[in-house]
Amino acid sequence: MSFGLGHGRDLDPGEWGMDQKDLPPFDQGKWDPRRWFAHPERRFELEIGSGKGTFLLQQSPLEPTTNFLGMEWTNEFYRYAADRLRRHQTANARIMRANAVEFIRHWCPVGICSVIHLYFSDPWPKTRHHKRRVVQDQSLADMHAALTPGGELRIVTDHVELWAWYEEHAARHAHLFDRSVFDRPTSAGSGEVVGTNFERKFRREGRPFHAMTLRRREPAESVAHEASRITSPAASQVPPTRAM
Ligand SMILES: C[S@@+](CC[C@H](N)C(=O)[O-])C[C@H]1O[C@@H](n2cnc3c(N)ncnc32)[C@H](O)[C@@H]1O
Repeated sequence: MSFGLGHGRDLDPGEWGMDQKDLPPFDQGKWDPRRWFAHPERRFELEIGSGKGTFLLQQSPLEPTTNFLGMEWTNEFYRYAADRLRRHQTANARIMRANAVEFIRHWCPVGICSVIHLYFSDPWPKTRHHKRRVVQDQSLADMHAALTPGGELRIVTDHVELWAWYEEHAARHAHLFDRSVFDRPTSAGSGEVVGTNFERKFRREGRPFHAMTLRRREPAESVAHEASRITSPAASQVPPTRAM
């Protein structure tokens, strides 16, 4: 199936794109994506499901000392986004054709992502397809491991049921993440939450949006959190101290 994104033009990822298939097998060890950038020592952020690459294209020039890696598994969107980055000669953004969930679980070294961005992820509304949603118990544990200390998973959706799913998972993994308000990226336009293609499309349809940030808790905090749950039966009734 073609989405006709190239409008008949050849899409050329050039050096801005690569395919997960070209990674070494993960049983040979982790593969550090920061090595792909001219300055691998810089802050690193990962986007899951980049679509047409608009977030990468808009945000990366505003943060030139951060390396941005998008992951997109639909070949045509991947090629379109990589071609866009190439045409703009974007210095600090790249995109990989990959299943980001698999990449984070099997290839990504621990503690390297300052932020993981997840914007307008596919909702998979049928119950039998819920297992395809990006956020799962396992993927949250894997993202926790991939984040730096204090690193953040930033989530936006328009989908009411997917939002409820996120809220349930955030509550169940409160030992791994503190939930806080979502800070709009500097590239978001007036009235926008993040400013991706899907947000712009859904805004025209008048849909409301939901957003949260999950900040990685450190093991010591997690242990203290668990201990307080065990020693204080009333702890669950204490109102949260952070803005939701
Ligand atoms: C609804 S679109 C949103 C695209 C973009 N974030 C936006 O807001 O415009 C979701 C995208 O995520 C991609 N995707 C879904 N699951 C993925 C995964 N596990 N790894 C990489 N890409 C994924 C899909 O192919 C699709 O292009």
